[in-house]
Amino acid sequence: MSEGLPRGIRSFVLRQGRVSKAQRHALDTLMPRYGLPYGPQALDLPAVFGRVAACVLEIGCGMGETTAAMAAQNPQTDYLGIEVHSPGVGSLLKLAAEQGLTNLRVIQHDAVEVLREMIAPASLAGCNIFFPDPWPKLRHHKRRLIQPGFVALLGSRMQAGAVLHVATDWENYAAHILEVLSANPAFRNLAEGYSPRPGQRPQTKFETRGLKLGHSVWDLMFERLP
Ligand SMILES: C[S@@+](CC[C@H](N)C(=O)[O-])C[C@H]1O[C@@H](n2cnc3c(N)ncnc32)[C@H](O)[C@@H]1O
Repeated sequence: MSEGLPRGIRSFVLRQGRVSKAQRHALDTLMPRYGLPYGPQALDLPAVFGRVAACVLEIGCGMGETTAAMAAQNPQTDYLGIEVHSPGVGSLLKLAAEQGLTNLRVIQHDAVEVLREMIAPASLAGCNIFFPDPWPKLRHHKRRLIQPGFVALLGSRMQAGAVLHVATDWENYAAHILEVLSANPAFRNLAEGYSPRPGQRPQTKFETRGLKLGHSVWDLMFERLP
């Protein structure tokens, strides 16, 4: 089993989303403060954040409202957000600066490559993946982020006791995620099946959209075993 996604498959398509003036300004001025360039060497997290603290990764942070809210609520924890789309990264940078956050950094790159190259083994204290792209068509299921190879890679980067928290509003993706995570012996389900919605997860933009469409939401919380 190859670690990550099958060769040549990406879990996103880079659309030319409109970048607002404010997002452009944030991208131009705040990347030096909050952004980490992609590169093929493991991050030294204490050097990046200027302290030794638990570091939680968020993959696909979208417009970043959840990431910024969690970083503001938990100043003792460091947050590393990964997102490929410029409007989202610009929006997150703006929120980080407005709130004066010091415990947040952003990488604009494919999370699979970031995990492989930049995240040291057993270094993450947690990982959040909220509303990953569902790729609903059967022929696109290979693009879904949460697959056995990806979970093996992510698991190798998580510390014992770290919690992987996934939420989705697509029922058959939820079932697939439950199956894939349950099949990986490095993880233990913290619930029987799906988890009750944990209070610490703010409502995300995609969640709001799904709820308006009448979708339900499934949370999954799995602990990395020693
Ligand atoms: C459906 S959106 C959800 C965004 C946000 N978490 C929310 O709940 O509002 C999924 C996001 O994941 C990002 N994404 C998908 N695959 C990614 C990857 N391999 N690396 C980084 N970001 C990715 C997409 O660009 C998109 O913004």
